[in-house]
Amino acid sequence: MDRIITKQGEIKRIPLYIQGLDEVMEGGIPEGYITLICGAAGTMKSSVCFNTLYNEALKGKTAVYFTLEQSYPSLLNHVINMGYDLTKVNILLINDLSNIGANIAQLKNSKKGTLIFADLGCIRKEIKDAKIATSQNAGWLNVIKNLIKKVKTDLGVDMVVIDSLSALYVLSKFENPRIELFYVFEFLREMQVTSYLISEMPLDGSRYSEYGVEDFLCDGIIYIRLSQFRRNVVREVSIVKMRSTSVKTDIFSLEFKNGKFYALYGGQNPLL
Ligand SMILES: Nc1ncnc2c1ncn2[C@@H]1O[C@H](COP(=O)(O)OP(=O)(O)OP(=O)(O)O)[C@@H](O)[C@H]1O
Ligand SMILES: [Mg+2]
Repeated sequence: MDRIITKQGEIKRIPLYIQGLDEVMEGGIPEGYITLICGAAGTMKSSVCFNTLYNEALKGKTAVYFTLEQSYPSLLNHVINMGYDLTKVNILLINDLSNIGANIAQLKNSKKGTLIFADLGCIRKEIKDAKIATSQNAGWLNVIKNLIKKVKTDLGVDMVVIDSLSALYVLSKFENPRIELFYVFEFLREMQVTSYLISEMPLDGSRYSEYGVEDFLCDGIIYIRLSQFRRNVVREVSIVKMRSTSVKTDIFSLEFKNGKFYALYGGQNPLL
């Protein structure tokens, strides 16, 4: 977002569709922002991102979800099991690099919103088979960048998820993360997409991302953790930062009930 607003409240926002959390962040994440969704394994990072994309797709938006580790059947099975009705949106699965244009073209005149899942695990295999050097950073980032550009040109794209940054780092070892990441973030801003970068936090909890530089480059950080209370483990969510937004930084319990996410009991002690 590089347009300067003329008055308070003019920023367009995309809700997280987490009841109780959107209300304490002026309605959602500003359009065009890059947000880290951080947390340990199994904290529902992917589900939270999918939930936003799905609800926006119901309103006609287009999004690309890059899955780098988890295969798309596994991801889709997970969300179908959670109760999302995927027949209400167009789902396009990309697991090879040929035919992308034709597949996207078919969706051009659709009235429904579109979720595109790019399975980089499959594409990785394809690139390997084709003996294209995968060790080159540029190779991997270019696959992601070119796909975003292609969808933007052919269909328009509103939102992008990269699941996960940690997996991206395994694929493309950044020699100079500060500089290379700066350009990745710049690219996403230039594309004017709202981006969600899933980040598996280092175990010592000292930073929200692998290199730490992402914490400063991003516009927002949502942190999900597992918290132990007596013999229960609960998921908790908090907004660590969100630029241009008045936020309540309370810690909330994160629950998923009847097809909907809730942030509950913000700032209160857990119920005994
Ligand atoms: N209704 C439900 N259906 C299926 N899974 C659910 C449901 N409610 C909660 N879950 C939990 O969601 C968790 C997985 O969510 P998700 O894959 O989004 O997490 P993640 O943080 O992305 O995990 P990973 O670190 O493996 O990528 C599981 O631990 C599962 O127990
Ligand atoms: Mg995940």
